Amino acid sequence: MVVARCHRCGASAEVYLPYARMWFCSRHFTEYVVDRVRSSLKRYGMIKLGDSVLVCVSGGKDSITLLDVLWCLRDEFSLDIKVLHVDLGIGEYSVKCREVIEKVAERYGIRPMILYVKRILGMDVGAIARRVRRSTCSVCGLVKRYLINYVADVLDVSAVATGHTLDDLTMYILKLFITQDLTQLSRLRPYLEGVPEVGLRARIKPLCEISEFETSTYVKLLGLPHVVAKCPYINPESIDLKIKEFLTSLEDRSPGLKLSLLRNYLRKLAPILMRYLGEDKVGINRCRICSQATSGEVCSFCRLISKLGLEPEEVLRRIREEVLSS
Ligand code: AMP
Ligand code: FES
Ligand code: ZN
Ligand code: ZN
Repeated sequence: MVVARCHRCGASAEVYLPYARMWFCSRHFTEYVVDRVRSSLKRYGMIKLGDSVLVCVSGGKDSITLLDVLWCLRDEFSLDIKVLHVDLGIGEYSVKCREVIEKVAERYGIRPMILYVKRILGMDVGAIARRVRRSTCSVCGLVKRYLINYVADVLDVSAVATGHTLDDLTMYILKLFITQDLTQLSRLRPYLEGVPEVGLRARIKPLCEISEFETSTYVKLLGLPHVVAKCPYINPESIDLKIKEFLTSLEDRSPGLKLSLLRNYLRKLAPILMRYLGEDKVGINRCRICSQATSGEVCSFCRLISKLGLEPEEVLRRIREEVLSS
């Protein structure tokens, strides 16, 4: 029987990456992932030496990989890394996520900032969604985005990093193309500039060229704690998951398809969309109530608060308290 050999050291290999046509031993696979993230950071101009980065960690394999890789690169880029986790109050699932974040933070000797939605809004995201008759995922997304922006502004970081992967980005490219949501599509980039006048920080997606197969292999080989359970509100029949499955079936037949979809999109269509629909064409100002960025007069978070019958001043006070105490 022929034993596969690591492309880098010749030792017996454990992982095969069809798109790269390379076998790796465990050590060289994890080094390869770090190398690829380093080149994405440079290729898309995501960070500068000495940047402070707010790493948003859910506890899943993707954001745990993100944190570990940025941690490996912190000296090279002189990064100041801060970690944020939003506890959504989703029963046992959220408890597991929090435990993972605490374990991982202990590993690196850092103190994560954990914000509890229940303490801020008086109820978990499921209860909020039922009250305002919206899907839990959309309420969860809105609350997370708001709190992440708020913390990034208060901590005055250079960039906010999320664990969106190649699978996420290619899924969104296809989905937004199908729905012809060209404004959102124009904002789909690994590096999104901040708008300092309204307190919006740059957004970066360092794992934009890393697949979910690679993140799950990375956490497994390094024995990094991560949450395996899925959020109970995920709809297995959602269009997002169907598009991901479709793209993965194409990738299985033509390895490298997702990477070329992303790169071709960024090289060809994205600059055209940016020219016609870029952020500078969409007025962003400060919310009349909370002063955070919004494209209208009142931001969607403040509108949600008012639908819940809560006092904005009281909610903003609780957010400030939570941020200062964590
Ligand atoms: P998702 O939209 O759930 O696929 O998450 C995309 C990215 O958002 C993750 O990789 C994280 O970087 C960030 N994120 C998701 N959920 C949380 C959370 N509860 N707290 C902090 N960051 C999160
Ligand atoms: Fe947001 Fe599941 S994590 S609804
Ligand atoms: Zn090797
Ligand atoms: Zn507001």
